[in-house]
Amino acid sequence: MNSTQTVIVTGGNTGLGYACVRELASAHADWSVVIASRNQQASQVAQQAAAETGNTNIRAMPLDLASLASVRAFASELATSDLPPLYGLVCNAGIQIVSGTSYTAVVFETCFGVNHLGHFLLINLLLPQMRQPGRIVIVGSGTHDPADPIAKMIGGYAPRFRDAAELAFPERFPDPAERGESTVLTGRHRYGTSKLCNLLCGYELDRRLKAADISITVNMFDPGLMPGTNLAREADAFTRFAWNRLLPLLGDRAPGISRVATSGRNLARLIDAPAFADLSGAYIAGQRPIASSAESRDLSKARQLWQGSAELVGLGANQTGLRGEPRGIDKERVTITG
Ligand SMILES: NC(=O)c1ccc[n+]([C@@H]2O[C@H](COP(=O)([O-])OP(=O)(O)OC[C@H]3O[C@@H](n4cnc5c(N)ncnc54)[C@H](OP(=O)(O)O)[C@@H]3O)[C@@H](O)[C@H]2O)c1
Repeated sequence: MNSTQTVIVTGGNTGLGYACVRELASAHADWSVVIASRNQQASQVAQQAAAETGNTNIRAMPLDLASLASVRAFASELATSDLPPLYGLVCNAGIQIVSGTSYTAVVFETCFGVNHLGHFLLINLLLPQMRQPGRIVIVGSGTHDPADPIAKMIGGYAPRFRDAAELAFPERFPDPAERGESTVLTGRHRYGTSKLCNLLCGYELDRRLKAADISITVNMFDPGLMPGTNLAREADAFTRFAWNRLLPLLGDRAPGISRVATSGRNLARLIDAPAFADLSGAYIAGQRPIASSAESRDLSKARQLWQGSAELVGLGANQTGLRGEPRGIDKERVTITG
């Protein structure tokens, strides 16, 4: 069947992303679903998803969020592809590094570089290609909030927000809080910080879209704790055993814990459910909007992060769909380009 519109899922080759791909593809035989992935097996995964859902409009396209060149190449490839108009973008891919500092291809600290900066550039480059109305969902995490019950239970994830350049280059700008700390603890704090950045960025994007009268919604999503995914790939053997074998036995029964399939369904609803058509700038846990942390709603941190991120990724004013400042600051300067 010919498809009518396209949805992209970053990291759609496995875990939550794959569950979301399956949901969208099986519910909408007339949609194209793109698995945007760095993984060599992504094309086989797309074939598997097509066989499982009966939707033959599933394809893989290469995207490595650790490489700005790859993000730019993805946006160019999409623009010249035969895919129908882009309706939905699910920023799902994520990584947690607990084995010591590592860097992306353009030498940003990997967790911040992949989880936030790569998606920041991707969203901005794809905005001019999106049809209206359209929907964007950014996958966050309860770990952005030190008061979140699950984050509190696991411990060690409290965000340490700093200037974007400081987060990108932690060895050039050492954080005193990391001195003498284990790589595991540092990695957890950096992960929580990257997830805080996902929320700050999502709220700022929502303000900018509204200011420009662009009919694209953006919401943030907390999937809950989903044991069994590859997110704990770097953890020690005991933690991996608990993550992969013991915790999944809880299914959806314990509060704050969710099966991957359940979270995948909830994530897909943010893209396709009529109930969310007019909702934008919300943080949704499972199926209901909840309050995110006070820090995630800090306007000056959001602006600082947005501007710092634009400088780090070299985002030119003519490369994005958005230009200017959010409503209430200088609406006249906001225009859509491309
Ligand atoms: N699991 C949880 O308990 C939990 C809780 C809250 C939030 N989340 C969030 O949910 C999202 C999905 O996580 P998950 O649990 O499904 O973990 P996962 O199974 O490890 O999936 C993560 C996905 O991100 C991709 N990815 C990592 N680095 C990438 C890069 N440089 N470029 C492109 N893709 C990259 C991975 O690709 P490869 O397969 O090639 O590595 C994989 O497809 C993440 O944003 C995570 O932060 C998870």
